[in-house]
Amino acid sequence: MMRDNEPIQTASHRASRRDIPADPVETPAFVVHEDAVLRNLEKTIKVSGGPARLMPHVKTHRAPWVVAALRNKGVEAFKAATLAELEMVARGGARTATLAFTTVNPANIARFVRCAQAHPETNFVGILDSQYGLEAWRAHLRNGQDNIRMRVDLDPGFGRTGAPMTDAAVDLAAGLHELNRFAGWHLYDGHIHGPVEERRVRVEAEAEAVRKLNERLARKGISGDLVAGGSYTFDLWPTDVAQFVSPGSWTYSSASHDRDLPNLNWEPAAFVLATVVSEHDGTVTLDAGAKAIAPDKPLKERFRINGEIMLIAEEHAVVRTEGLALGDRILLVPEHACTTAYLYDRAWVRTTSGGWERRDQLGSTR
Ligand SMILES: Cc1ncc(COP(=O)(O)O)c(C=O)c1O
Repeated sequence: MMRDNEPIQTASHRASRRDIPADPVETPAFVVHEDAVLRNLEKTIKVSGGPARLMPHVKTHRAPWVVAALRNKGVEAFKAATLAELEMVARGGARTATLAFTTVNPANIARFVRCAQAHPETNFVGILDSQYGLEAWRAHLRNGQDNIRMRVDLDPGFGRTGAPMTDAAVDLAAGLHELNRFAGWHLYDGHIHGPVEERRVRVEAEAEAVRKLNERLARKGISGDLVAGGSYTFDLWPTDVAQFVSPGSWTYSSASHDRDLPNLNWEPAAFVLATVVSEHDGTVTLDAGAKAIAPDKPLKERFRINGEIMLIAEEHAVVRTEGLALGDRILLVPEHACTTAYLYDRAWVRTTSGGWERRDQLGSTR
């Protein structure tokens, strides 16, 4: 019989027996520690300047219970990347639900509008970055639906989505203002990584560009606010420009945050529990392959290990490490928790009272 504080065999996370669900639990399994999520939330709220300024992205977890936990701490506005996430946020009773994705597809826009109709008590916000998008949304926004507004998505040099920060953006804002739908700007700068001083200088340059856009808007008698930033920049956005900040991956954090953002003190809160299912000369094989741990990072970095990842196939990971034997269970910290959560429609959650519950999440539902 193992005692609660006896270490389990682990190659990637200093864990005790208390950190994994009691037997019997099938593996691979997605494991979340609620107390760590809440501690990450507390730190993030503090750095953001309060829960009213935090507009967290839910793509990281896609879990209704996390939305409820955030609302419980005063967070009322959320960002979503898909319509299923938007619907989840609306069902969770949020005051504001933003689809932070520049869809121009009429079928997607129609589903957004249906969601807004079904939840009249929630404010819905979409984003667009082109005249084409403005026309696509205009066609759906003609008839009332007072709880829908739009933001103009700005490109801070990421090159993913967003209008250039020029008159093109101001024209889109003016077009939305004419429809009485302009909420403000949206800007995501996920391309900014590196040392904090470098990030600070780049965020200040983005902020200055937004100030200039605001001056141009003001000359037209238009105003709007800004939601900006992700985990690497939200703490650097000046409050005079960014009324909201929108980090997302802080919720579960990840191996890369430990390394890149130690000042924020986030803890990994989501793990993959795996079992050693085969042994070879100097290597062991885990039952957690590319279908259990997101394959969107270089092979050697997909999870942290005291040793070396040799091979990852669909259902298997072969690792060269010491101290693991057949049947051992290990708790892996994924490099990218966000895309790993996407692989599971349920998580084993260690609740704040220390018990274990299986809780639903969206998994790969769009
Ligand atoms: C539009 C948008 N906003 C916010 C976020 C959250 O950023 P992060 O993952 O850096 O916390 C993301 C993440 O990809 C995003 O795409």
